[in-house]
Amino acid sequence: MGVNLSGRSFLRLLDFSTEEIEYLLKLSRNFKDLKRTGTPHRYLEGKNIVLLFQKTSTRTRCAFEVGAMDLGMGVTYLDPGSSQMGKKESIEDTARVLGRMYDGIEFRGFAQEDVEELAAKSGVPVWNGLTDLWHPTQMLADILTVQENFNYDIKGKTLVFMGDAKNNVARSLMVVCAKLGMNFVACGPEECMPASDVIEACKPIAEANGCTITLTTDPKAACTGAHVIYTDVWVSMGEPDEVWTERINQLEAYRVTQELMDLADPSAIFLHCLPSFHDTNTTIGADIAKKFGVTEMEVTDEVFEGPQSKVFDEAENRMHTIKAVMYATLK
Ligand code: CP
Ligand code: NVA
Repeated sequence: MGVNLSGRSFLRLLDFSTEEIEYLLKLSRNFKDLKRTGTPHRYLEGKNIVLLFQKTSTRTRCAFEVGAMDLGMGVTYLDPGSSQMGKKESIEDTARVLGRMYDGIEFRGFAQEDVEELAAKSGVPVWNGLTDLWHPTQMLADILTVQENFNYDIKGKTLVFMGDAKNNVARSLMVVCAKLGMNFVACGPEECMPASDVIEACKPIAEANGCTITLTTDPKAACTGAHVIYTDVWVSMGEPDEVWTERINQLEAYRVTQELMDLADPSAIFLHCLPSFHDTNTTIGADIAKKFGVTEMEVTDEVFEGPQSKVFDEAENRMHTIKAVMYATLK
């Protein structure tokens, strides 16, 4: 039987089989071809979706909006301050209202339980646009980018996550690598390792798919021979500003530098979900430079701007992959 995701929510990748993830990646490639050739694909004309954001966004919001419009759908965007949700209306009531009006709901917020409650109570597919625990739509874009750079042959390749390996992106990468047969390495200080429940959930999946999960505090050992070096911000949305001092001290040794890239496989690529602090051209970047004298954080500007960096292909792929998720679940 073929894969059928119609009516399903997309909340975390642990809920999806290898076959289902591979299907979404293939669909993403098809949508990318349609977009590149200017072929109309208004397959979901007449449907409407709503985007609920409790946190800020550039890529995720724009990918959902453009993706939905390309598919012929109407889109409503509700920003962090402009809905009743949470303040005057419970998640459950919000879900029951939105489910009456929309065919699908995207949610970016703090608690994973909130996106799960929306899915349970709205009666329509709900897509997780990032919570404190997971960032599943990001994973499809990341893996599509890896596929494109390794001739669609990713099994047995090694992805290293450098830095705050306990965060939503690192956790999600561990899951997607395990599901797709890629070796995953979390490299950071002991205090920033992924939670044990995620590791325990991923271990048997990795074993069944012939790949490994490694945790290490040694950046050089981690990057030697790797195919993908990935990093993310040192402080995630929703964390208090006070953690910056501690995080900078903990993570400076885990910045992705050209020296580390040179230890990787010659074909290695650099990925980052973005946004990135690779220079001081942001208010936070400039502020950190002033306070701590740190002008590049999780990655050097040299690597970010260098030939191995595929971060803007990766960002573009958010649109193609999110379109695939919406199509697969709403068709
Ligand atoms: N990578 C990502 O989710 O980017 P935004 O925060 O801009 O959506
Ligand atoms: N870990 C980051 C990812 C941003 C896309 C955050 O949660 O802020």
